Amino acid sequence: MRRQSVPATGVELIRLDGVTKRYGNGAAPAVADVDLAVHAGEAVAIMGPSGSGKSTLLNLIAAMDRPTTGTVQVGRDRVDKMNETAAAKYRRRQVGMIFQFFNLLDDMTVMDNILLPAQLAGGRSDAARQRADQLLDRLRLNHRRDAYPARLSGGERQRVAIARALINRPALLLADEPTGAVDTRAGEEIGALLLDLNSTGQTLILVTHNPELAARYASRVISVADGRIRSDSANPAGPTGAPGMGVQR
Ligand SMILES: Nc1ncnc2c1ncn2[C@@H]1O[C@H](COP(=O)(O)OP(=O)(O)OP(=O)(O)O)[C@@H](O)[C@H]1O
Ligand SMILES: [Mg+2]
Repeated sequence: MRRQSVPATGVELIRLDGVTKRYGNGAAPAVADVDLAVHAGEAVAIMGPSGSGKSTLLNLIAAMDRPTTGTVQVGRDRVDKMNETAAAKYRRRQVGMIFQFFNLLDDMTVMDNILLPAQLAGGRSDAARQRADQLLDRLRLNHRRDAYPARLSGGERQRVAIARALINRPALLLADEPTGAVDTRAGEEIGALLLDLNSTGQTLILVTHNPELAARYASRVISVADGRIRSDSANPAGPTGAPGMGVQR
């Protein structure tokens, strides 16, 4: 598998300028005039009430959706201008997404779900399998590798979604409520895994309703309401960028 290039820490990786997203005429914008810069290596938590535009913001950064107005830049790519083909390629190469609602493929096993992004990206399949084995171990899913998603618990599905997001070692990881469906212990494990990845240089944007999670796993906390950024502050109690010891990028 090709190794992804990770931008040097501190370089601006994501930049949104004047970004507004409206779904349909007349409705209040889901995202309203947002300016945002995220540097490579940051771990950013996005918090805010239901309906405040958090998932929409992630979708705009992931090129799952395009802004109504404004620009979205990720690395050298103008994400807001991409057509579907370019967007799919961009996501395969640079972005790992953990969706709020998993999006696993029900007719594929756990292992095949995890391997799918690696297959789409091309590259050596033995390397991808090795990486998948490592992730299955780390996420305590080994005994489930041949199961189908319908037979898994919510927490197991969430862990499969995480493994799938990490298989290509993306420079940018976007996680939408990654601990929403799991108990405290699994939530801790997921948090620790995200922290490990971030400490090896991966940029993390984490949407969460959980202030404790934000405080522990993010170096910066952004609050949104009604599609706007209401506050944006460094979190002194958050991760410091110490070397991680878990999954190697
Ligand atoms: N595909 C869509 N079509 C129409 N409206 C949408 C669509 N997606 C989101 N919206 C609307 O945009 C607003 C923001 O939604 P979004 O999903 O970004 O909120 P959120 O902050 O992620 O909420 P939650 O915490 O409940 O996940 C909401 O009013 C929602 O109804
Ligand atoms: Mg959401």
